[in-house]
Amino acid sequence: MTPERWHAICAYLDDVFGEQSERMASLMPRAVEAGLPDIAVSASVGHFLHVLCKAVGARTIVEAGTLGGYSGAWLARGLEPGGRLITIEPEALHADFAQGEFEAMGLADRVEIRRGYGMDILPQLVDELGPGGVDVVFLDAIKTEYPEYLPHARAMLRPGGLLIADNALGGGSWWIDNPEGSHESRDGADRFNRMVAADEQFDAACVPIREGVLVARRV
Ligand SMILES: C[S@@+](CC[C@H](N)C(=O)[O-])C[C@H]1O[C@@H](n2cnc3c(N)ncnc32)[C@H](O)[C@@H]1O
Repeated sequence: MTPERWHAICAYLDDVFGEQSERMASLMPRAVEAGLPDIAVSASVGHFLHVLCKAVGARTIVEAGTLGGYSGAWLARGLEPGGRLITIEPEALHADFAQGEFEAMGLADRVEIRRGYGMDILPQLVDELGPGGVDVVFLDAIKTEYPEYLPHARAMLRPGGLLIADNALGGGSWWIDNPEGSHESRDGADRFNRMVAADEQFDAACVPIREGVLVARRV
């Protein structure tokens, strides 16, 4: 498939399955104006996240990689009443922007931004939320660290809970079919995909939407 054809298919997915409010449509353009990088999930991936959270009746969601709060807003809207999203972000510029968006969208009562690095915060959350205390973990931070996030995600997810990871198949400057060693993020994602697929505690699949979304159900 040519890149042009793939882009056209992704645009079709956003058009048909990515309906969103004006505020959501303008979130990333405003974030970019504020100096954030343009690396959020697409509208159709956001809607996919939302559907998955609803499907498992999510009450507690953990996200690694907040950016401007775009995916977080889709996740937060997928929560059951009274549920909460904890989203991890080390960059103050990103976290501050996201906080403003969550407040403006009326989601601040159910979203907490933890300012710090995934590798520091995820183990803390296992202690804090208890083993099996989380319904959905969404990974969208550093691809080379995905394999290290895995034991923490496994520990915090309840049976039937979902591990979801963006960029399972690509990340703008790399694709998973590039040669091994050509990009550290490619190799991190490849290692992570294979670890999850081989992990008896997960039942895993990967959807080639946009840059690839891995979905694995905790056994
Ligand atoms: C791809 S963006 C997240 C996009 C967001 N999930 C969305 O779709 O709207 C990755 C984010 O991870 C943050 N990040 C960088 N290093 C991190 C780390 N070690 N732990 C957690 N997040 C990190 C970046 O600052 C950036 O905001």
